[in-house]
Parts: sequence; structure tokens; C-alpha cells
Amino acid sequence: MHALIVVAHPDPASLSHAVAQALADGVSGAGHSVEIADLAKEGFDPRFSLNDLSVHRREIVQPADIAAEQARVDRADALVLVYPIYWWSMPALLKGWIDRVFANGWAYEELADMKTIKKLEHLPVHLVALAGADMRTFARHGYYGAMKTQIDHGIFGYCGAPVVTSEFLVPVPEMSEHLDTARALGGKVFKPANKTAEAA
Ligand SMILES: Cc1cc2nc3c(=O)[nH]c(=O)nc-3n(C[C@H](O)[C@H](O)[C@H](O)COP(=O)(O)O)c2cc1C
Repeated sequence: MHALIVVAHPDPASLSHAVAQALADGVSGAGHSVEIADLAKEGFDPRFSLNDLSVHRREIVQPADIAAEQARVDRADALVLVYPIYWWSMPALLKGWIDRVFANGWAYEELADMKTIKKLEHLPVHLVALAGADMRTFARHGYYGAMKTQIDHGIFGYCGAPVVTSEFLVPVPEMSEHLDTARALGGKVFKPANKTAEAA
């Protein structure tokens, strides 16, 4: 099996990158192959352009860079997203990756009668979000529910991709704890015992 870990953080020395690497170690330790897609290092352009809109309208075919991203996801048996929480959501770099890569015709298909076909039902998704705030803050203001609704349900549910893991890594006294969590999660990515956290 093959996992694609997408990380969206500008600093390779960040905890987000360390978590992505620990996850990858867990995946390979369990005997599977893994690729880390470092969107910042790769210089992914998150801006949704007029060209992207034409693709969305099915007027033109995907440009090569986005087709390559989709092929990279297609090669994976599981997709893992690792990102710091910015303004109670994912960073713009990752949001732009979703906007552009999870396009109409590939991630879902809008039909003429307003119906939608979900096209990613085969792709288990694992979300690992790193937070600066504690869980009480997330709960008190409704950010936890808002993020789950918007990301787990609103994005992946819309495309039919089952969200198997949805982890919030909040500050703890020993941040290395998160690396252990990530390694363990990596080891479980392809375990059939995983339950679907979010119904499509
Ligand atoms: C622009 C920006 C916005 C942020 N917004 C939030 C936020 O809304 N909620 C939160 O819990 N942390 C927020 N943070 C803190 C980051 O989530 C935190 O620094 C990061 O997860 C720590 O991991 P890192 O070392 O990989 O950056 C923000 C940080 C930045 C730079």
C-alpha cells in the first residue's frame, strides 16, 4: 500500500514537518511505501485562477501541474494531510491545493440536474491539524465543530472520501508526545480496524 502525506508549512524545521516525517516513519515501519508532498518546498501555487475556473466549468482540460497532483493522489491508497491551524482553518497553501486539485470532474462531478457524483469514495483520508490553542478554546468558541464541519464533512464528505482520522494536536508540555502519536498513526493508516470518523 502507498500513502501520500501532504504537508503545508513554510518551515522545514517546524513541528508540522516533524509530525509529517514521524507519520511517514510509521507508515514505512509498517511495511508500506510513502511519499511526503511538501507543498511549500515544491512551490505549489495555491491561487485559483481564471484558468482553474475554466476547468471547473469544464471548458478546458486540467493544466499539467494539477493533473500531476491528481495523479499523485490517484497513486495513493490513503491521503494524509498535516497542517498547522491558521485562523481556525487550514493554511491558504493547503486550501488552494484543495481548491485547485479537488476539481470538478476529478473529485466530484456536477451534473446538469444539480446532482453531484462523489468520486473519491475509494480514498481514505487522515487529517492531522496542529494547533496553538488548547482544546478548551476550540470547544468554547465552536471552532472544533466548525473545522470538522467545514473540512471533514464539507470538503471530504462532499467528494465521498471517508475521513478515518481527524486529529487535533494541541500544545502539550512535551511536544515529542506528538511525534509518538504521529508515528503510531502512521503505523495504523492501513489497518482495517480503523473506523470511518465521518460518513460521506
Ligand atoms: C498566521 C497564523 C495563524 C494562526 N492561527 C491559529 C488559530 O487560529 N488557532 C490555533 O490554535 N493556532 C493558530 N496558530 C498557531 C499555529 O497553529 C501553531 O503555531 C502551529 O500549529 C505550531 O506548529 P508549527 O511549529 O508546525 O508551526 C496560528 C499561527 C499562525 C502563524
